[in-house]
Parts: sequence; structure tokens; C-alpha cells
Amino acid sequence: MKIIVIGGGGREHAIIRKIKENPRVSEIYALPGNGGIAADARCADIGAKDITGVVEFAVANGVDFAVVAPDDPLVLGAVDALNAVGIPCFGPTADAAVIEGSKVFSKNLMKKYGIPTALYETFDSAAEALAYIEKSPVPVVVKADGLALGKGVIIANTREEASDAVRSMMEDRVFGESGSRVVIEEHLEGPEVSMLAFTDGKAMVPMVSSMDHKRALDNDEGLNTGGMGAVAPNPYYTPEIAAECMDRIFMPTVNAMNAENRTFKGCLYFGLMLTKDGPKVIEYNCRFGDPETQVVLPLLKSDLLDIMLAVSDGTLDKADVRFSDEAACCVIMASEGYPRKYETGFPIAIPADVSAEVFVSGAKLSGDELLTSGGRVLGVTAVAPTLKEAVELAYADAEKITFENAYYRKDIGKKALEI
Ligand code: AMP
Ligand code: GLY
Repeated sequence: MKIIVIGGGGREHAIIRKIKENPRVSEIYALPGNGGIAADARCADIGAKDITGVVEFAVANGVDFAVVAPDDPLVLGAVDALNAVGIPCFGPTADAAVIEGSKVFSKNLMKKYGIPTALYETFDSAAEALAYIEKSPVPVVVKADGLALGKGVIIANTREEASDAVRSMMEDRVFGESGSRVVIEEHLEGPEVSMLAFTDGKAMVPMVSSMDHKRALDNDEGLNTGGMGAVAPNPYYTPEIAAECMDRIFMPTVNAMNAENRTFKGCLYFGLMLTKDGPKVIEYNCRFGDPETQVVLPLLKSDLLDIMLAVSDGTLDKADVRFSDEAACCVIMASEGYPRKYETGFPIAIPADVSAEVFVSGAKLSGDELLTSGGRVLGVTAVAPTLKEAVELAYADAEKITFENAYYRKDIGKKALEI
């Protein structure tokens, strides 16, 4: 089988490594992939958002199955376009991807179907949003409606900060059209859990739980990033909480999407907060999370491609989906300065005695040499019988990997080990 994977980050690298384990796979193409992914797949220089280019490439190369990993092409309808030329896909159609593409849609969906989430109001007028803020308690959370590279959520500690956020989103349009509407919602507190789940619109199979580390600096300080590390499983996610989430959040979401004629097939990501009033949805994503995928997939014991094919043809209930009971830790090595300004172009040295899996996100090839090319450069994932050992192994290997300007958090997994 010839497989195409759309995207080019650490998440896509982890997906490709796993798909490669299937003996029926003859070729994997990554569009655009990156210099590190090139060791595991054939990369073609076609951007993930170039839907026409992706479809042309898939047809020209006789691709049998496509995995669309990032949010942008999903929301733009990459799955619809590939299906239209007869190529089955893993990933939701644009109609269903709106669960991530519009926060107004997802909040209204949760309200309509009684799925627990933060109380909120939506606004398409800046004046009304500003007036609402004047009487809302703080902290308060302001969210741009559309995709905003993970930067569209502002936790405002004062009304002034909240008003500034509204003005920059709605008046200055710092996120373009994504800020034409905003959601203003109550601030929740509690540990966060990332849950990825396979669903074919009928069955729903949650993967192992995980914990992201979004802030740039140790002790969850500094700016929000795409994620500086992850661990799995997440110790806050007990079997009791898992059962409650299945009944009150996961299945109700699948059913709600069906009821709206937006059947979701693919990986549905639930960003959960475990509040004192029970688990609540902070956000939905229509795709695998990054870096969560870099700890979840290394723990998958069954065949990823077979699961993806089952999701696509609606037979997930018969698929074999098993996870190891070990633990995984992923430490993201970034370019110093990320998520702000950083320099790139430095050679990356990965010694042969690194036993952890290395998933590359921001690197390019220059001849045979791998050079840094992004903010997040690579993820170092170790799997071990206990989380403590996985953390130690991931850090031992991260120390061996070198490039100029390398920066990584020193406390990935610390919070999880404390409970
Ligand atoms: P998002 O970009 O939607 O993943 O949100 C980024 C982060 O903002 C989340 O991981 C939470 O830590 C935080 N966040 C979002 N909504 C809320 C909320 N209502 N209350 C508290 N924290 C929130
Ligand atoms: N790690 C959060 C996300 O993928 O959106």
C-alpha cells in the first residue's frame, strides 16, 4: 500500500514511524515532511495547506490511503477533496473539522447537547464584548473563534487585559478573520488532561491519557508554546474519571456530531480540565495533538494503519486497539528564544547511543547534514515501566543530543510525578 501523510512536524514523524510497522506498506510519502522525517518517508515539497497540490500528488503517485494530520488542511477540506478523487482518508471532513475550526460552533454544540464546559457568551461586535467584560468576574478567558496557531486564547487577570485582547482580536485583527467573533468564558481551575480518541462516528476508542506542557519555561512559566513536552499516562486521569468522561463527554460528542449531520471520523482530541465540579471540556481538536502524539503512539501496541483503515471504513468496533501499560515521556528540544525570535541553521548531532525515539519537527537537510530550521526542533521520547524511569531516560538522551542554541524544559513530568 502507498500511504501519504499530510503535515511536517513531530506528530507526523511519530505517525509515520508507527505506520511503517505495517508489513503491507510499500511506500510512505510526507507532504511536506521535514529533514528528519526524510529518514522514514519520501518527502515532497508540497505545503499541507496546498489542497490542490496534495490531491494532484496523491493521484499522480497512485496513493491508496491518506492521513491528514494538521488542523488547517482538515478545516480547509483536504479529506473532502481526496475522497472526491476516490482516495480514502483518516481524518474528518470539513463539516466535522469545524469542531476545532470554530470555537463558537463547539461551544454552542456543548451547550445544546449538555456537554460540560465553561460558561460562556459569544460576540461578533467588539462594543458588546467590551460591555460584557465590564461586568464579568476576573480572571476571564477570551478566545478567538477561528484557528490562531494556538495563540488565540488569552487568560486575562484583569478587565483591562481582557479588553485589550478583544480589541486586538476584533479591531486590530491580529489573527485575521479568526478574530471576527470571540468567545468570552469563565476561568476554570484544575489539572488538565489531553485525551485523544479514535472514532468512526459509531464506536469511540479513547487512547492512553496524556499531559501536555504548554508553557515555555519550567514551573509552567513564560509564554504559551505549541507544547514543550508530554507524558503518558496522565496520573490525574483515574478509571472513575475515565468512565465519567466516556458517559458525559466522549459519547455525547460523537452523538451530537451525528445529530448535526457532521459525523466525525478520525482522531478527536478532548482538552479536559478536571474541576471540582467534574471534568469539563476546555477545547476540542479535530486531530492528533502535538506533542501528545509523541508519547501516545509509542505506547500503542496494535497496528496503527489497521486502526486508521477501520476508522475510515466504519469498522472501528472490530479493530484491535491496545496500549502498553508502560509510561512515556517526551522532552521537546527547541531553539533558544522560541516561541519568539530564534536563530536556525545549526547542525544537529544525534549520537548512536541515543536509545530514545527522536521525532523531528523543525529540521532540514543540507546534503547529509541535518540543520535546525524551526522553533521546536525535535522530541525525545523514552518508554519505560514507570514514568519516573521514562523521564530519566528521556533527559539522559536529550543531554546527548546537541545543536547550538538548544533549549529544553528541565521539569517535564515533574507535576505528574508529584501526585
Ligand atoms: P487552547 O489554545 O484552547 O488549548 O487553550 C490554551 C490553554 O488555555 C489551555 O490549555 C488551558 O490551559 C487554558 N484555558 C483555556 N480555556 C480556559 C478556561 N476556560 N479556564 C482556564 N484555562 C483555560
Ligand atoms: N498540544 C495541544 C495541541 O496539539 O493542540
